[in-house]
Amino acid sequence: DTADRFVAPLLDWFDRHGRHDLPWQHPRTPYRVWLSEIMLQQTQVATVIPYFLRFVESFPTLPDLAAASTDQVMAHWAGLGYYARARNLHAAARRCVEQHGGDLPRDLDALLALPGIGRSTAGAILSQAWGDPFPILDGNVKRVFARWHGIHGWPGTPAVEKQMWGLANQHVRHVPAGRLADYTQAQMDFGATQCTRAAPACLTCPLADGCVALREGLVDALPTPRPG
Ligand code: ADE
Repeated sequence: DTADRFVAPLLDWFDRHGRHDLPWQHPRTPYRVWLSEIMLQQTQVATVIPYFLRFVESFPTLPDLAAASTDQVMAHWAGLGYYARARNLHAAARRCVEQHGGDLPRDLDALLALPGIGRSTAGAILSQAWGDPFPILDGNVKRVFARWHGIHGWPGTPAVEKQMWGLANQHVRHVPAGRLADYTQAQMDFGATQCTRAAPACLTCPLADGCVALREGLVDALPTPRPG
């Protein structure tokens, strides 16, 4: 079942091959997790790291960020692109100071109400910052799910996306307490490095047992590409 063939081997793989030295993992505070997740939304890890380090050097805490000027914040974002992310980040920090005592709220709906935070980013924050059982569902995870569960249809379709959120929620219920943060990071690292779009490492895959796409010869066909 899911616990034995997906969650457990994925965590085991993460212990041996996942990324354990990312700067936002040490120390792993809600503010640092949030900042990293916003930066990582459209930017690769290697690019994000120096920006993240400069950012927390200048704005070590959420109230420091809230107190900064727009110019200061935008100067630290210059080069990262997708500048709405920085404006939303700054606005969200100010709202957290006004409404949540200067920290991020440990609550799904309150996080979703902040600018720049969607359902997957909220799940990434809740699981990584507090170890709460909320899933993520980004492009990497969708690819792994499409293959492992044998789900046909473009993952951007509302029905497919809904089905995948249901599976994601079921999976996190099998994650041992205390391992939710690792589970979230494991999914991102696994999708990014093993179950890649063009060159998946099926021969050495720790999830091969139970992968519908592998069994049915559909690894290259799934996930179904965007129509048109
Ligand atoms: N993309 C979004 N969040 C990420 C994370 N924590 N690690 C790697 N890639 C990511």
